[in-house]
Amino acid sequence: MENVHLIHHPVLAHSLTLLRDRRTGTEEFRRHAAIVAQIVLLEATRTLPVKKKTVRTPLASIQGGQLTEDLVLVPVLRAGLSLLNAALDILPGTPVGFIGLERDERTALARTYYQKFPLELKHKHVIVLDPMLATGGSLIDTVARLYDRGVQDICAACVVAAPEGIAALHKSYTEVLIYTAAIDSHLDETKYIVPGLGDFGDRYFGT
Ligand code: PRP
Ligand code: URA
Repeated sequence: MENVHLIHHPVLAHSLTLLRDRRTGTEEFRRHAAIVAQIVLLEATRTLPVKKKTVRTPLASIQGGQLTEDLVLVPVLRAGLSLLNAALDILPGTPVGFIGLERDERTALARTYYQKFPLELKHKHVIVLDPMLATGGSLIDTVARLYDRGVQDICAACVVAAPEGIAALHKSYTEVLIYTAAIDSHLDETKYIVPGLGDFGDRYFGT
């Protein structure tokens, strides 16, 4: 699949399986969501450009690297917050924008209830954080709003993606690279990912 990066890592497989297990309670779900987030975010930042930077250690000079890209993180509320700490752990100075989207339980259409982006988004590289890519409605809406504000390029960090959501996103925005820990089988009639892990936000926040 083009522009989809499926992440393979034994620790990721272990933690994702615990996230999927219906018996996993909130505390354990949060712990393993943090591990999954760390691996997904490291992978989603693997190709960031680096320029040369020379520093002096206590013993000698060495040429190292410095991240150059102007990044912005955009978690999709609520569930995207589960990926934010991991992202800020490795990119501590990065500005964060928020978008609040909620799927209607009946129609599965996303409704926006909140939006707060950094003022300057022009020419920025945005990493959208949202663990579940189901119909793609939430991600398509987020990407459209970001491009409207002049964002240069966008990638998405996900945990579980459905083929339907990937196809829908790439029908409108082929160039958006998706990093995901899993590509599942299909959506059910209520637009939940099968086998998936259920409602990520409800399980993460204990609601
Ligand atoms: C979930 C998930 C995504 C969206 C994916 O959010 O976190 O944002 O559904 O579905 P889609 O691809 O069909 O749009 P939800 O609406 O359940 O809200 P929550 O994060 O507050 O739980
Ligand atoms: N949102 C979720 O949290 N889970 C799904 O399976 C689909 C959308």
